[in-house]
Amino acid sequence: SNLDYASYLKGWIRTVPNWPHDGVMFRDITPLLQNPKTFRVLIDIFVHRYMNEKIDMVAGLDARGFIIGSVLAYELNVGFIPIRKKGKLPFTTVEEEYELEYGNAVVEMHTDACKPGDRVVLVDDLIATGGTMMAGYKLLQRLGAEVVEAAAIIELPELGGGKLMRDAKVPLFTVCSFN
Ligand code: PRP
Ligand code: ADE
Repeated sequence: SNLDYASYLKGWIRTVPNWPHDGVMFRDITPLLQNPKTFRVLIDIFVHRYMNEKIDMVAGLDARGFIIGSVLAYELNVGFIPIRKKGKLPFTTVEEEYELEYGNAVVEMHTDACKPGDRVVLVDDLIATGGTMMAGYKLLQRLGAEVVEAAAIIELPELGGGKLMRDAKVPLFTVCSFN
């Protein structure tokens, strides 16, 4: 079942204490990506979840959301939308500012990345405060897309991002969580 797969995959996420700074338990997905079996199990969870949902596009968040999102888009036979940190996209963009632990950041998306009514899955590796995922959600909404679900591998419930999104009525799916 998906629950068995979730605990199996969780065992392939490495925790690096005090990175990138003191007090942070960094949840590192590179071992999960490195092993072809776990990488496939991970992607298949998302593929099966969305394959019958008439998805038009997958949007991925810079940078780790690109790894999962592009493979998912390929498997669903739909296009991929990169949502990037400010200053990377060449054409006209919409942008959203969001809060970081210290200071702010901005993400951008091309104005022609999707059409009104497009059914989009938004993906990232991890939800901490939820700022990044919410910013991506708002960009897609501004272009009139229907965000079928925001999806991530990992939720960190103590940082409140999952609650923030559920309270805002954003459909949310995460494979596993770390307290
Ligand atoms: C990490 C992670 C998410 C975001 C989650 O990315 O990949 O995108 O933080 O945090 P939040 O829920 O508090 O917004 P990061 O900003 O470190 O960028 P990177 O993908 O370029 O490493
Ligand atoms: N992004 C924000 N917090 C994180 C954490 N603890 N591990 C990995 N990525 C993160």
